[in-house]
Amino acid sequence: MAEAFEPKKIIVTGGAGFIGSNFVHWVVDNQPGVHVTVLDALTYAGNRANLDGIPEERMTFVHGDICDAPLVDELFAHADAVVHFAAESHNDNSIADPAPFVRTNVEGTFTLLEAARKHKVRFHHISTDEVYGDLALDDPAKFTEDTPYHPSSPYSSTKASSDLLVRAWYRTYGVRATISNCSNNYGPRQHIEKFIPRQITNILCGIRPKLYGDGKNVRDWIHTEDHSSAVWEILTRGRIGETYLIGANGERGNIDVLRAILAGMGKGADDFDWVRDRPGHDRRYAIDATKLRTELGWVPKHTDFAEGLAQTIEWYRANPEWWQGAKEATEAKYAAQGQ
Ligand code: NAD
Ligand code: TYD
Repeated sequence: MAEAFEPKKIIVTGGAGFIGSNFVHWVVDNQPGVHVTVLDALTYAGNRANLDGIPEERMTFVHGDICDAPLVDELFAHADAVVHFAAESHNDNSIADPAPFVRTNVEGTFTLLEAARKHKVRFHHISTDEVYGDLALDDPAKFTEDTPYHPSSPYSSTKASSDLLVRAWYRTYGVRATISNCSNNYGPRQHIEKFIPRQITNILCGIRPKLYGDGKNVRDWIHTEDHSSAVWEILTRGRIGETYLIGANGERGNIDVLRAILAGMGKGADDFDWVRDRPGHDRRYAIDATKLRTELGWVPKHTDFAEGLAQTIEWYRANPEWWQGAKEATEAKYAAQGQ
């Protein structure tokens, strides 16, 4: 096995968002010798308070855009590695207005790759299993690293584009890059536009939860802390030029997840509304993480979904000031779409 890469100064793009902020906390808690520079534009999805409590000597926060080439160049001149989370991340938004997705996900990744090439910075790209399209409900198959790309939405197609840029910059310019494609994350600090926190905060506000289509779509849920530990393994011990799928065998139907939330919050099994389906709605995602598990020995910690969900519900109950300010506008946007 090759020697582990030991970064001391890492840039985390999108570190004020859901998964990025959980990753920054994980690094600060688990990797004492590492300094983190967060680069985040603080869009509607970013929140500086997500990084509260991190000691000043462990992290520098830079409020800026990944498409700002001079700023990116300056930051990369002083870093060993970048972990690139920044993205426009919500499918429904991408259907309503795809332009920011092309800009941030494609042009932003290009800007970072150019700086990584110039300054020889190790590049880990965070991507999604949605680049592979979807699987039928009765298909025994799962996605693997060899599944052909077949994205459905403006979101997933811009993430697929960014993955292809990373692969080309590795092959053509020798950028020391890896890619991970992870399944659906859940846990604290996820924006309330997303499925699980939307339903939890609806119930907390006395609004009925909303289920798209026939509710049978399947997502493969992983706790965000397990995503963080997997990314660290790949950054430090992954093979350059390789892609690793991240997943924790968490396949569940949307209606089952919603009923678990309803039961966990003292509501009846039918206390929700059926709403208009998402156009192009992917049916099922499922990850085969054999490569990550066998090659790097990674194992998830949060294997009990009911427990992780209960903790997540508790987090939203205990932190209303974190989400209440965004609730009205988020629901107004959905209502205008019939969702
Ligand atoms: P998020 O929307 O919660 O956070 C995105 C962050 O990126 C925000 O802090 C935002 O301010 C920042 N950002 C957006 N545009 C920027 C720009 N131009 N310059 C700098 N910063 C910018 O997203 P998330 O759910 O935490 O997802 C993070 C990454 O993980 C994304 O790349 C996403 O594709 C990927 N991913 C997400 C999931 C999931 O379940 N949410 C699953 C697999 C992969
Ligand atoms: P989401 O959290 O948007 O993640 P993704 O689109 O990346 O999978 O949605 C998860 C699933 O939940 C998806 O099948 C769409 C569905 N969904 C609902 O049924 N109701 C909702 O209010 C939302 C936001 C999503």
